Amino acid sequence: MTDRIETRVVHAGWEPDPATGAVVPPIHLATTYAQTGPAVPVGDFEYSRSGNPTRAVLEAALADLEGAAHGFAFASGLAAEDCVLRTLPAGARIVIPHDAYGGTFRLVARVHGEAGLRFDAVDLGDPAALRDAVTGDTAMVWCESPTNPTLATVDIAAVAEVAHGVGALLVVDNTFATPYLQQPLALGADVVIHSSTKYLGGHSDVVGGAVLLNDDALAERIGFLQNAVGAVPAPFDCWLLLRGIRTLAVRVERQQENAKAVAGYLETDANVAKVMYPGFGGMVSFLHAGGEPGAVNACTRTRLFTLAESLGAVESLIEHPARMTHASVAGTSNEVDGSLVRLSCGIESKDDLIADLQQALA
Ligand SMILES: Cc1ncc(COP(=O)(O)O)c(C=O)c1O
Repeated sequence: MTDRIETRVVHAGWEPDPATGAVVPPIHLATTYAQTGPAVPVGDFEYSRSGNPTRAVLEAALADLEGAAHGFAFASGLAAEDCVLRTLPAGARIVIPHDAYGGTFRLVARVHGEAGLRFDAVDLGDPAALRDAVTGDTAMVWCESPTNPTLATVDIAAVAEVAHGVGALLVVDNTFATPYLQQPLALGADVVIHSSTKYLGGHSDVVGGAVLLNDDALAERIGFLQNAVGAVPAPFDCWLLLRGIRTLAVRVERQQENAKAVAGYLETDANVAKVMYPGFGGMVSFLHAGGEPGAVNACTRTRLFTLAESLGAVESLIEHPARMTHASVAGTSNEVDGSLVRLSCGIESKDDLIADLQQALA
């Protein structure tokens, strides 16, 4: 019987060490491993870029949580994304969300785009627009749900059907939902990526990324690229991520409870023109009725919500996407409204968080 996700986040990837009884994995710092003959390693490891025991525990844990056969950890979410994009043939065509994370857009447009990758930015929530954009030469559909920063949700199963209809792969960035709330592979996605910097780590103290998938041949290519390109996380980073993952369920429960309360409050505030909350998760965005000056002003007046990039940690954060996380998409199809404010709700008291927003918006 498969354990429930609340149990798996605590146990995935590790059993007490038979040799020492250690209930958490050690941080294996060794960069190289002894061999009994040329190319005959003592155990499973040769060189720490190719494979590391602490990283292997993290990769097994992440694969378990997403219901994947294969897991790969990277030095950042963008390194994970880069690896997936490198599997595409030269000159391939992909579809990305019209409201993709700014760094994803920049990576697609200005790194892979300059090397020949072609892309269309589409509203994946609009079935007709998606059908028009996905054609016989589309190799990949890239999806975020909920999206960053407008928190739109996408019907992953429906997008998978359209993508698979033309033989394209569906990649889902599951950073905002986390495997606690959504497991895209079970909905038909082919590849899941994460910025584990966010909810998986959960404490704003480690940058990381992950790729999870089932297909053996594609996994072999991802594993090859992980080693060949070398954007791997340090053992200590892997250990921090494992430590964070153990509390994912309780953190997300509390963050979600706080986000629901904050979204409910914002609906009643006259300085808020529109609240964006998908009904689950810990992120809330809103349009300030006072336009960009109002949004910027609110961002500088909170006491508990720290004005900072990133999200998903125990402390609440506020940010202005147009000037911060999404500044790189200014003037493109993915430009963000200047009156938009994005909140990442932490695990503090919801009453304190609401009082903080009330005084900042007043
Ligand atoms: C949805 C999403 N995907 C990917 C990334 C990139 O991850 P990283 O910052 O770990 O490289 C981010 C970062 O904010 C993000 O919000």
